[in-house]
Amino acid sequence: MSYTEGMLRDGALNGKVILITGGGTGLGKSMGSYFLKLGAKLVITSRKLDVLEQTAKEMEGSFGGEVLPLTCDVREIDQVEKMFDQAVAHFGKVDVVLNNAAGNFISPTERLSANAFSTVLDIVLKGSANVTLTAGKHWIKEKQAGTFLNVVTTYAWTGSGYVVPSAAAKAGVLAMTRSLAVEWAKYNIRSNAIAPGPFPTEGAWSRLLPGDLVKKFDPAKKVPVGRVGDHQELANLAAYLVSDFSAYVNGEVMTIDGGEWLMGAGEFNNLDAIPQEMWDMLEASRGKKG
Ligand code: HXC
Ligand code: NAP
Repeated sequence: MSYTEGMLRDGALNGKVILITGGGTGLGKSMGSYFLKLGAKLVITSRKLDVLEQTAKEMEGSFGGEVLPLTCDVREIDQVEKMFDQAVAHFGKVDVVLNNAAGNFISPTERLSANAFSTVLDIVLKGSANVTLTAGKHWIKEKQAGTFLNVVTTYAWTGSGYVVPSAAAKAGVLAMTRSLAVEWAKYNIRSNAIAPGPFPTEGAWSRLLPGDLVKKFDPAKKVPVGRVGDHQELANLAAYLVSDFSAYVNGEVMTIDGGEWLMGAGEFNNLDAIPQEMWDMLEASRGKKG
């Protein structure tokens, strides 16, 4: 057994229709592929139809099943509603929404234009809100159960310099997750979130470690377990959270980061840099005094 293997039993997501924003690339594509393998039907949506169609073809080729690619800019409520209606018309229902689409870039905050700031806020917070409202209203009207899974980050609660619009927006998505977990539970709608640490994807790496930054900052060095994440282990957690096995998990944010954010938070965690010989010397000198 290894974290690079699928965790749930075959057919664990049979009968579920799962809508993934940003499902054509990166982590959305990896989570979607595993959901498909477990028997779900997929709707993948983002702005680029060619990317979505290519991904849908690849996924169906590898795992069978059915993947519906639909374009939609999550910032535009009209496009979101149209996309959701198309998904329901095609599959008859949507059971799960994975709010995964995001926009991000690294920059000193004082260098950002107002439009740069609001672009990230709009994709991440307004986009997730648009999809959540559309799906939630539909589920409530149809008296149908539903599940939200929202992808945030650990800096949703710690904050982080140099990605301030993203941190502010992800904090909003986390607040929305916890709020609706309570408000909409009476409608049989669950809301949870995942906070991944570093998982290599072209989209994130090209924007957060552009140019030479990738040589200067090895993300694995900031992780206590000494490595970056494997897409399958994230897919395992996501599959559990959208499955009926997690029916009693509601309003939770599950961190999957190898301990990364706590390493930055613990007052003395940087003492890892002290070599064993120095600890030996300190212990020896303590012994003499005592
Ligand atoms: C500063 C920038 C910028 C940059 C764009 N802008 N890139 N400002 N630094 N690197 C500014 C532009 O100048 C413009 O402002 C405004 O932002 C909008 O730019 P557009 O290019 O017109 O926006 P758009 O085409 O909508 O594209 C959105 C995007 C782009 C966010 C800029 O990168 C994108 O499409 N990203 C989607 C995928 C993505 O970002 N994936 C990474 C997710 S990773 P002005 O004022 O000039 O008009 C992630 C990981 C988190 O979230 C945690 C890791 C551990
Ligand atoms: P990615 O491949 O760039 O994924 C982002 C996706 O969002 C793309 O498919 C993009 O597709 C879509 N998107 C962007 N703007 C959109 C819009 N306006 N409307 C609809 N779709 C839009 O990056 P990723 O690393 O897989 O990130 C996926 C999620 O994981 C994000 O929420 C990110 O914040 C989160 N995350 C990632 C990491 C990591 O280390 N990779 C860590 C923590 C959290 P189009 O360009 O076709 O629209």
